[in-house]
Amino acid sequence: MTISKLTIIALSAIIITACGSSKKSSTPTAAAPSLVPGDAQLTAIKAKFPDATAEQLKEGYAIYTGACTNCHGQKNIFKRSEASWMHEIDDMSPKANLTSVQKDALTKYILSMKAAQATDAK
Ligand code: HEC
Repeated sequence: MTISKLTIIALSAIIITACGSSKKSSTPTAAAPSLVPGDAQLTAIKAKFPDATAEQLKEGYAIYTGACTNCHGQKNIFKRSEASWMHEIDDMSPKANLTSVQKDALTKYILSMKAAQATDAK
């Protein structure tokens, strides 16, 4: 008796959990390339900046999706050349009141996304 009751409780828990997670995974963002920096981005940026860390990329991502969207929408990282981004970062960092440490993290983050994409394309 106790065992079958437990089985029913366990099964209901599994069903409830499964329904909950299927709702979450149906958000319509699948087509956009991920902007979250990971191992591929860290490996790619280390070719250019051997001292780059995962923490810097995470900080850059937070700035890019935070302070950098205060005045306008999120700009497309992949539509701009590296040289053009260096120019924009110089231009925009004072607008976003970034410290030199934050600007460095943002630069590494943006270039890491582009570098990892270039590696993917090969
Ligand atoms: C104080 C407001 C402000 C902040 C903060 C700001 N921007 Fe801008 N940004 C502008 C304005 C104004 C323009 C010129 C108009 C436009 O293109 O939207 C611009 C233009 C740009 C452009 C070129 C426009 C294009 O589409 O060709 C890029 C790229 C850009 N910003 C990136 C950034 C990044 C990265 C950050 C974070 C460091 C940032 N912005 C923070 C105001 C801001």
